[in-house]
Amino acid sequence: MNSPVMQGLNLHAPAFVKNARLIAWVADMAALCKPDAIHWCDGSEDEYQRMCQQLVDSGTFVRLNEAIRPNSFLARSDPSDVARVEDRTFICSATKEMAGPTNNWIAPGEMRGTLQGLFDGCMKGRTMYVVPFSMGPLGSPIAHIGIELSDSPYVVVNMKIMTRMGRSVHEVLGVDGAFVPCVHSVGAPLAKGQADVNWPCNKTKYIVHFPETREIWSYGSGYGGNALLGKKCFALRIASNMGRDEGWLAEHMLILGVTNPQGRKYHVAAAFPSACGKTNFAMLIPPSGFDGWKVTTIGDDIAWIKPTADGKLRAINPEAGYFGVAPGTNTLTNPNCMASLDRDVIFTNVALTDDGDVWWEGMGEPPAHAIDWQGNDWTPQIAKDSGAKAAHPNARFTVAATNNPALDEAWDDPAGVVIDAFIFGGRRSTTVPLVTEARNWVEGVYMAATMGSETTAAAAGQQGVVRRDPFAMLPFAGYNMSDYFQHWLDLGKKLAAAGAKLPRIYTTNWFRKDADGKFAWPGYGENMRVLKWMIDRIEGQVPGKEHVFGVSPAYEELNWTGLNFSSTQFHTVTSIDTGAWRQELQLHAELFQQLAYHLPRELEHTRAQIEKKLAAA
Ligand code: GTP
Ligand code: SPV
Ligand code: MN
Repeated sequence: MNSPVMQGLNLHAPAFVKNARLIAWVADMAALCKPDAIHWCDGSEDEYQRMCQQLVDSGTFVRLNEAIRPNSFLARSDPSDVARVEDRTFICSATKEMAGPTNNWIAPGEMRGTLQGLFDGCMKGRTMYVVPFSMGPLGSPIAHIGIELSDSPYVVVNMKIMTRMGRSVHEVLGVDGAFVPCVHSVGAPLAKGQADVNWPCNKTKYIVHFPETREIWSYGSGYGGNALLGKKCFALRIASNMGRDEGWLAEHMLILGVTNPQGRKYHVAAAFPSACGKTNFAMLIPPSGFDGWKVTTIGDDIAWIKPTADGKLRAINPEAGYFGVAPGTNTLTNPNCMASLDRDVIFTNVALTDDGDVWWEGMGEPPAHAIDWQGNDWTPQIAKDSGAKAAHPNARFTVAATNNPALDEAWDDPAGVVIDAFIFGGRRSTTVPLVTEARNWVEGVYMAATMGSETTAAAAGQQGVVRRDPFAMLPFAGYNMSDYFQHWLDLGKKLAAAGAKLPRIYTTNWFRKDADGKFAWPGYGENMRVLKWMIDRIEGQVPGKEHVFGVSPAYEELNWTGLNFSSTQFHTVTSIDTGAWRQELQLHAELFQQLAYHLPRELEHTRAQIEKKLAAA
């Protein structure tokens, strides 16, 4: 008899849990994973505090100095478990073609067999937490509910910050509401009497999605997007499937509001690949010379975007917190972010200072001594001698959106905000100019589809190599990439046919380098100059300069007040090298070859046109 009750494990579902399917599923999963206990999370502040204290007592958390960083904690992960594992991430759709050539695929039947083996007894000696969460405002018609079962208390407290988590989710779920089942285990069962480690995980990792049945199974990692299943697994990979079926978009995009001195407000959604500046751009503070301009944050990582009957695209941020990159963040580059981190934060893999605060590379003056992210002594001298980093390059903070001083008043509005422009921006040392506007929707989709970016520490593997990252969704599209392009084209066609004014599409590159290998564009708050040009274009105030693949600003079209940036420097970040672009087009062609199955014809056609113009240039 396999029921957990028969094994002596009582489900003890509290009265607020009413969903029959949920209770049956938890019973099944408990029978498989064989935890010692089950904890049904209620999402209360009291529960959060108790679990944080439990993590302190067990050694996973260090409580930071209450006087400097109140209600905040530091976790150090296992050195082998520091980022998303793309090569261990699987889209197990019915056929390989449905997952497409950019996703790892294993037949669902085979994968289910593997998972049954891995999850059998994987929670022995641990507690299974039942985490109810809503992606999107609770009860909103565009929100979706997930339940994550996890044996990691670290995951539970992070989910509390990153999502709307708790018993009110059960109220919305009712007796027969639908939810996305998400099972997570660190894959480190404990034998009787066996001592736990600070960061349990397993060398073997599987991050698995079943798009047809809308299920997520994650094994072996406790870190970020591998383990906080509401984020990439649900809100991008599974939700992109929902969006394709239901006519909406789930995107790797920040959402911001930008208000001009006349009080006119626009909303922009921007897709930059992982660790390429979304959090920074979403919290931007306009520099001097931009009096009366204001930028407010709706979201910093994920957007769910739905067409409404009036032909507009409305976007919500399905998350409730930020899981952001710490290194490089400081009071000059991102003051709003730093202010968000004053209190109530979970830091992971940053350094611990002697006064019980945190530090990371790029935060400012280094401390004379600290404990690095691996728990070792660290000094500037050690760093100089051995190259040891105080913080891991993918060190992160987890903090509630409500801590952000620039939070938009509509961030929680179930109706979402109307999108006026999309931006797609890669990290490219060369070739790609600062900003280009697409002349139409198809050209914009082409730009997004062919975007390249240098890889970052957000994913395990080699860093700094240029790869194609279509729509910044390469690791996150839950189905065939070419079908995803088609979905974007179809949406544009549908809106245009209804007489709607489509959002403008831009592509940006903040990361071009000069001859000395230094960033040639000042970036951060100065990106406001580019954002304003986009708004000026929308308002029809600047002509721009047309070139081979779009429209870019003339030097005079940007507001340079408060910044010394010569037209020669501007040329360094905007010049279009015909030779380099012929090579770039070759990379587009290679991508299209890889994606040949179902590749929309318009995209290959656009490529051919650009190639023709380049040949003539
Ligand atoms: P994910 O959370 O991984 O999806 O990343 P993100 O896009 O939110 O990245 P984030 O804003 O956290 O930025 C990551 C890194 O890029 C940080 O080290 C920043 O300092 C750096 N960065 C952000 N904006 C700029 C910019 O305009 N110029 C330059 N040179 N660096 C930037
Ligand atoms: C990303 O890698 O794009 C992230 C961080 O936003 S994680 O949640 O770990 O995926
Ligand atoms: Mn991201």
